Amino acid sequence: MAIVIRIPEVETDCAESIVLYHEPVMTTEVMDLMKPLGPGLYLDGTVGGGGHSRLLLEMCRECRVIAVDCDHEALDVAKATLAPFGERVIFLRARFDEALDRSGIVEPLSGALLDLGVSSHQIDSDKRGFTFRRKVDLDMRMASDEEGIPNAAQLLNDSNEKILARIFHEYGEEPKARRLAREIVSRRNDKPFRTSDDLVAAYSKALGRNPKAKDKARIFQALRIAVNREIEVLKNGLFRIREALSPGATIVVISYHSLEDRLVKNAFREWSSSCVCIPGLPICTCRGKPLGTTLTRSPIGPSDIEVARNPRSRSARLRAWRKS
Ligand SMILES: C[S@@+](CC[C@H](N)C(=O)[O-])C[C@H]1O[C@@H](n2cnc3c(N)ncnc32)[C@H](O)[C@@H]1O
Repeated sequence: MAIVIRIPEVETDCAESIVLYHEPVMTTEVMDLMKPLGPGLYLDGTVGGGGHSRLLLEMCRECRVIAVDCDHEALDVAKATLAPFGERVIFLRARFDEALDRSGIVEPLSGALLDLGVSSHQIDSDKRGFTFRRKVDLDMRMASDEEGIPNAAQLLNDSNEKILARIFHEYGEEPKARRLAREIVSRRNDKPFRTSDDLVAAYSKALGRNPKAKDKARIFQALRIAVNREIEVLKNGLFRIREALSPGATIVVISYHSLEDRLVKNAFREWSSSCVCIPGLPICTCRGKPLGTTLTRSPIGPSDIEVARNPRSRSARLRAWRKS
């Protein structure tokens, strides 16, 4: 029986709606690395439209999934997508770095997946404010109704010049980050930032020309990373998930930003080293053995066929690590 999913712009049956909401990337590679074959509990820390979880649950009839997303709209779609699997799925609205502690679940994990960033639906929905399309209110909060988290406009209006420059330099690798930060601070005194147009106008002035789409994408992505504290959450989340994995279990991380990919690479490298002492110490004082093995020497990207079918998969980079 077809499941009807109602999301503001889209209303369709289940299989089609997953693709419309978000097409899961590198599914074969994820399943090959996770090997969900026997009974076990898996964490999908970024369940989105539920595409990856659905494949995992179909592939392994004895597997159960903790399906986590901090966005209540995404979780509603995942609930509809994964409804056929009944009690094999536990849904939790939380950030993935705090999900396990909030769930109270202590059973070790047989595997975990983090497919970072935003879903296609979030980017395509103007009311979420992730896009540089014209006249869109700058919001960018993943958990859109969470109180106490400043949205993108508030961040632009309230942060000092140094912080703004750091955001665009570190997260956006923007060579003119300082000039852009100065421009934002000078403009907001006359008119506070509210929409995508305000930020694009400041960026055009700082650059001295109209920015290309890829430059705007970088700047908007940098702001989104800052609004949601994505780097800090990833750092904490990786550590917390590693602790929860059972021996032999794999964590797979798909990232879409070089900074996130580097963080994942370095974490996996450190966990796979036998010695993490400061170089030059006369004797080893650390754990003295690796905690597991990195399964991906270099990051795996999508195939040409996948990029042709789903251009948004282009920047995805997948890394995996298995606990000893
Ligand atoms: C790329 S999509 C995941 C798509 C999913 N794999 C699928 O098959 O549909 C990323 C999802 O992660 C969620 N998300 C991003 N950061 C998060 C965080 N720190 N904690 C929980 N969910 C997060 C977003 O709301 C979004 O729904």
